[in-house]
Amino acid sequence: MPTPRTISRVFNSIPTMEGAGVRLKRAFGFNEAPLFDPFLLLDDFRSNNPADYLKGFPWHPHRGIETITYMLDGNVKHGDSMGHNGVISSGAVQWMTAGSGVIHQEMPFGDQHGKMGGFQLWANLPASQKMNPPRYQEITEDRIPKIHLENGVEIHIICGNIGQTKGPVNDIAIDPDYLDITVPPGISYTHTLAKGHTAFAYIIAGKGVFCGQNEPYANETLILFGDGDTIAVTTEDEPLRFLLISGRPLNEPIAWQGPIVMNTQAELYMAFEEYQDGTFLKQYK
Ligand code: CO
Repeated sequence: MPTPRTISRVFNSIPTMEGAGVRLKRAFGFNEAPLFDPFLLLDDFRSNNPADYLKGFPWHPHRGIETITYMLDGNVKHGDSMGHNGVISSGAVQWMTAGSGVIHQEMPFGDQHGKMGGFQLWANLPASQKMNPPRYQEITEDRIPKIHLENGVEIHIICGNIGQTKGPVNDIAIDPDYLDITVPPGISYTHTLAKGHTAFAYIIAGKGVFCGQNEPYANETLILFGDGDTIAVTTEDEPLRFLLISGRPLNEPIAWQGPIVMNTQAELYMAFEEYQDGTFLKQYK
């Protein structure tokens, strides 16, 4: 018999200021990260007010992690110091494996109504891959499979697979699932996922009951699950949309300062020293 997962912790996103003055909501970050291994942080930057986001995230380094940006509305203009440029538009995903290092900027701009929004997840890299060459997977909306189950549940597969259908993001160390799931009203849905993987749901619209609890949860609530094989979701009179994210824990020490996450303080110190003296970016043939 499969073991149903239960709710381990529930978090509400908290208003935070980031970058050059972007107002966003943080579902979890530095203090909660030990509970979320291999994930480090989840930011929700949905807003209808350009003053919240136009200041953006000017030039900053990353090393030792992956940043995963999933856009629902508007755009983020991205550029890095190796000359890699692009726009992450509504429905698209940028899965950036920073590895040994990128120095980049991420500048949001809204749609014609000033609406902008999406999510940035940080995933940790194992020690063995922290100094690998940087890698981008840029996925436009049309490349994200959208499957419809018989009960009306719709799943957008960014990473991972549902049955035979596989998401476009591949070769990620922590073997993650990143799914955008919509459950219509009045449905009970049971989702199977890898045992032993850390898993959480982040609600982005509507309401739903998780794991047979009585209380429905709504937008901007994060539900961290205990271990098991399945997650049960029930909707009442309104639909529910949530991100379901899971990955294999790394169980490695974390040395984290700002946008750089290594295993030891010495590695962290070296990263900032290299950033200061201009040797942060590594050359790869
Ligand atoms: Co960044």
